[in-house]
Amino acid sequence: MAKNTHRTAEQMAAAQREISVSEFFAKNRHLLGFDNPRKALLTTIKEGVDNSLDACEEAGILPDLLIEIIQLQEDRFRVVIEDNGPGIVKAQIPNIFGRLLYGSKFHSRRQSRGQQGIGISAAGLYAQMTTGRGPRIESKTAKGKPHRFEIQMDFSKNKPLIAKEEELVEWHQKQGTRFEADLEATYQKGLRSVDDYMKQTAVSNPHARIRYLAPGMEEARVYERAVEELPALGEEIKPHPYGVEIGELMKMLRDTSSRTLSGFMQEEFCRVGAKVADEICTNAKLSKKAYPSRIAREEVDALYRAIQATRISAPPTTCLSPIGEERILEGLRKECDADFYSVVSRPPSVYRGNPFQIEVGIGWSRAGSDRLEVDETGRILKTRKRGTADTEDLLGGADDPIRLLRYANRVPLLFQQSACAFTKSIIQTAWKNYGLQHPRGSLPLGSAVIFVHMASVWVPYTSEAKEAIAPYPEILKEIKLALQEAGRKLGQFIRKGKRVEREFEKREYIDKYLPHVGIGLQEILGLSNEQREETVATLRDSMESTRKI
Ligand SMILES: Nc1ncnc2c1ncn2[C@@H]1O[C@H](COP(=O)(O)OP(=O)(O)OP(=O)(O)O)[C@@H](O)[C@H]1O
Ligand SMILES: [Mg+2]
Repeated sequence: MAKNTHRTAEQMAAAQREISVSEFFAKNRHLLGFDNPRKALLTTIKEGVDNSLDACEEAGILPDLLIEIIQLQEDRFRVVIEDNGPGIVKAQIPNIFGRLLYGSKFHSRRQSRGQQGIGISAAGLYAQMTTGRGPRIESKTAKGKPHRFEIQMDFSKNKPLIAKEEELVEWHQKQGTRFEADLEATYQKGLRSVDDYMKQTAVSNPHARIRYLAPGMEEARVYERAVEELPALGEEIKPHPYGVEIGELMKMLRDTSSRTLSGFMQEEFCRVGAKVADEICTNAKLSKKAYPSRIAREEVDALYRAIQATRISAPPTTCLSPIGEERILEGLRKECDADFYSVVSRPPSVYRGNPFQIEVGIGWSRAGSDRLEVDETGRILKTRKRGTADTEDLLGGADDPIRLLRYANRVPLLFQQSACAFTKSIIQTAWKNYGLQHPRGSLPLGSAVIFVHMASVWVPYTSEAKEAIAPYPEILKEIKLALQEAGRKLGQFIRKGKRVEREFEKREYIDKYLPHVGIGLQEILGLSNEQREETVATLRDSMESTRKI
């Protein structure tokens, strides 16, 4: 008979204890994007590349990256990610690579690829969990000596352990960081593969040079730099009052060094000057001289409501670093051979106090059919047979769903497509108006790619794996407006193209039948061969001149 296992509160208390964040994520690795060996490889590379690009940009260095995947055993791979960034100070290396929730970006309100402080240590943790060996890091700062570390994580404490540490005599670069880890993984080609990710990264980062070497490649694939300037670095901003909730407000009041409520409002938030601060205090029925940490909970509630009721201008948008229409176009042109491109960069907007900006690019082509090249007046220059899109081209066939390229702060998002605000907006847009076939509830069809980018100081991801954007109404609205604007331009082009196509058919028709008309006339009118040729030429000319495109 089963033993009675009921327990008392005291017995239960014996089992109640703190759980370390690394223990939690080791058990829930899918939350961080390590759900299967294929994705684990991609996530590891993505985290490393994100960090390298962030570090280079923050330091004002044009990124030069090396990514290498080496197969060690059937299901085991070594990943190498190397950058020419600022390097990492020796004392920080163990915590950065061996401790979850340790980073420089979580508390900063600046646009960057990373924001959580989990990324690269999670990759190290996964490597250690699946192969027993933690990550190896080599790094050199401009002033410092090069170092090499091997890290092991004590995940019951979320603390790094240093398995090996040595100072290197020299390093092959002036400065930078090299990350190396062995992990259980699968390397595959195709959609959502590492190859795919590299290509998409090249599209959104035309200022980066990326060398990529994977199993089966004879030599590294090089994505050359298309532009020589770094993107403008977004400025760091303070929180906007509208985006702060009561709990956070309480914490800020406790932590501030300001001595008055009015001073607190002005110093801790953006867009609050003396006048607005006083107005908030009056609306909250609180003295502007009140001492911040002495404000009671009910008063915080009143303060919160007063903030919402006061007119405060939108946060500054200098914190954003959009890609920009020109660079999106350059990126798209470089990686996809389309007949038409339409690019839209929306003005900045705000959700929950966070500034953000949406950008859209469309590349479209008439796949599978003869491709016409027309000049800006619509005149046909030449025709070219278009091959079926190969895997190198981002464009699919004419009857395939369009290829969707989603990005957040320049990082391609490869998974959770259907849960993403971008996908929802695209599905809800009336693409039939813009000349595309569009089955209800799905993506439109066509040999096209739609590029969508959200730049923000805080991207609202649906999970820690940073794969999809949460559908806040303000964000959905901006995406839709951008899509409509780009869609309208596409619609005009497709309509014009249809006219050109019809015209082209007509011309073929004339070329085919006119000689027969000439022969008929020659017989009826008894013309010489010369006269026949002349008549046909006159007829062709008069038909050409009456044609309007
Ligand atoms: N290649 C690198 N060069 C310079 N600094 C780096 C590099 N990689 C990581 N760092 C530093 O280590 C920190 C932690 O990186 P980690 O990837 O764990 O978190 P994050 O990038 O801040 O956020 P996320 O979890 O969203 O990736 C970064 O914030 C950055 O300061
Ligand atoms: Mg990171």
